[in-house]
Amino acid sequence: MKLDASEYPLRRQHLMDMMSPNSLAIVPAAPSTVRNRDVEHPYRQDSDFYYLTGFDEEQAVLVLIPGREHGQYVLFCQEKNPDMEIWTGRRVGPDAAPDVLGVDDAFPINDIDDILPGLLEGKDKVYANLGISPDFDQRLMGWVNHIKTQVRNGATPPREFSALDHLLHEMRLIKSEAEIAVMRKAAQISAAAHCRAMEHVQPGQFEYQLEAELMHTFIAAGSRWPAYPSIVGAGDNACILHYTRNDDEIRDGDLILIDAGCELDYYASDITRTFPANGKFSNEQAALYQLVLDAQFAAIATVKAGNHWQQPHDAAVRVLVEGLLELGLLQGDVEECISDATYRRFYMHKTGHWLGMDVHDVGEYRVDGEPRMLEPGMVMTVEPGLYVAPDDETVEARWRGIGIRIEDDVVVTETGCEILTGDVPKTVEDIEALMAKNASPSAN
Ligand code: GLY
Ligand code: MN
Ligand code: MN
Repeated sequence: MKLDASEYPLRRQHLMDMMSPNSLAIVPAAPSTVRNRDVEHPYRQDSDFYYLTGFDEEQAVLVLIPGREHGQYVLFCQEKNPDMEIWTGRRVGPDAAPDVLGVDDAFPINDIDDILPGLLEGKDKVYANLGISPDFDQRLMGWVNHIKTQVRNGATPPREFSALDHLLHEMRLIKSEAEIAVMRKAAQISAAAHCRAMEHVQPGQFEYQLEAELMHTFIAAGSRWPAYPSIVGAGDNACILHYTRNDDEIRDGDLILIDAGCELDYYASDITRTFPANGKFSNEQAALYQLVLDAQFAAIATVKAGNHWQQPHDAAVRVLVEGLLELGLLQGDVEECISDATYRRFYMHKTGHWLGMDVHDVGEYRVDGEPRMLEPGMVMTVEPGLYVAPDDETVEARWRGIGIRIEDDVVVTETGCEILTGDVPKTVEDIEALMAKNASPSAN
């Protein structure tokens, strides 16, 4: 499933409508990166560049020049080269770019040093994401300096540089219906992958074998890459927040934490589920699991337009602290534990983040120093957890080494939220029922 191509011109126009008069915006494609000798990492286009172009080739630069007589949408891209294309794949090329990509004016990337100073000359303001790629910053300054050498001939270099992300990332934060449709599909694929992992798990397997089940579902459904490296942590490994080694044996009695989501047409999904390797939660596992689930329900209940972005976190923390006190993992009084943040020993991350083309998506979390208000079309995760370190001697041994996180993706609506990732079970009963249904006959 791909985003409808009609979205891209709307985005460019929206951005150009917000730009100052007599300005220009410039966005480079992502560079390719080396993995090891003669091998590159799989190429992933820069999210800002793709958001505005839908173009996935490297060595390209987008320039938007509102009001330019010869065309506002200018693209520099690789020239066609039949010899090279035998090795590295097809290229659109500048000649076909107007038809294929809807650009107004396309040039070979190798001509950029000759052409770009002319486009920059006389502009009052340049919008760019400065400070991300030192190489690109240097090239941009090189083009500007070239104009400066011409001032005695009447050339005027741009006077002002402005952060493009202030405009573009605000746009990316609010998703259109078409974007939400792609994210819904990505979430469904990821939910199916988590179900498959629950259905296939057996004590004695290795964590990477569950990762293989996830990858099978992702790729078979048309998602070539996960949105981030999958976390499959059994037993104590569930307490390592960014565990990605995934190479330990899964033992009977372990809880397994899987945090994995596919990327579909540049949109991320991000799901965490925690389930027992043998299909049955122990009493301690079930008690902590239910607490995290209650915290997640409380957090989700606060997601709606007009509430602020910190409210789900505050709601989750309160439920977790009350439960930890009840179970004896914390001592004292609810308000004190919250204000002293003593709960951070067990819950050390935030309850969510924006989700979109990047798994930790763009967009400010605070406005004028205050937590930002939620608006319809924002997509975020809700992901409380509890992690009792295996060597935490301040708690009874029976709690140690339990790590739990439950993460869903939600779209903010006027009245609440739409949960995109609801197809994968999360109550104790529903998880145990799914796992029992799929236990092999010999195991029954
Ligand atoms: N998977 C990354 C995160 O949950 O933030
Ligand atoms: Mn997340
Ligand atoms: Mn996650």
